[in-house]
Amino acid sequence: MLKLGVNIDHVATLRQARKAVFPDPVEAALICQKAGAHGITAHLREDRRHIQDSDMKKLAAKVRRLNMEMAVTDEMLLIAARLKPHSCCLVPEKRQELTTEGGLDVIGGFKKIKPAVKKLQKAGIVVSLFIDPDKDQIEASRECGAEFIELHTGSFAESRGRKTEKELKRLVDAAEFADKIGINVNAGHGIDYENIEGILRIPHLRELNIGHSIVSRAVLDGMHEAVSEMLKLMRRYRC
Ligand code: PXP
Repeated sequence: MLKLGVNIDHVATLRQARKAVFPDPVEAALICQKAGAHGITAHLREDRRHIQDSDMKKLAAKVRRLNMEMAVTDEMLLIAARLKPHSCCLVPEKRQELTTEGGLDVIGGFKKIKPAVKKLQKAGIVVSLFIDPDKDQIEASRECGAEFIELHTGSFAESRGRKTEKELKRLVDAAEFADKIGINVNAGHGIDYENIEGILRIPHLRELNIGHSIVSRAVLDGMHEAVSEMLKLMRRYRC
């Protein structure tokens, strides 16, 4: 069965825009779980722009299957070893980017990534590497000892017209190759309610990590109820 991991970073983004206490990403995570999500994904970024250390701590304690996205830094390795999430997905991180741009360069960062994978696995954490659909990167991921790769679906999601089929073929070929050399395949980034149809044509998938489209849908789906409830409270006005 294809599993769903919901990325709840965007709930924290909304909270941090006001530096308020709501919406609480932990509460959102518990609702996702109740709705049937198999896992929760959260990215503790170096600049703490959305998820905070305290969120990660609560998520690790309350969520059944937490996937911590993180850059390969000593600080993050220490935090992960302490929190012991179910899995860690290693991603590239740039301070200026709006979201994760491009996959991890496992070939270029091999010397740093391989020991990081070992360290996390020693702490009992399943490791996944977020990479572009590229054979050499897949091979390097396996050589690092990672159990999973997460294929970056961003180029497919952003493509239009004829390019879409080309990008989808890259993902299909990459998944076939990964399966052939014995590495498990997840996928994520930019997956929405329309392009999911194409994503479902990729073979050997274990789990999809989806954030922005689900959180965006939740905001609009909940708008009617949110406005109605406020109006109900305002009807008590007697002045
Ligand atoms: N997987 C990884 C590794 C990511 O960095 C992200 C974005 O935070 C996602 C999945 C989810 O992407 P989106 O929010 O576009 O669904």
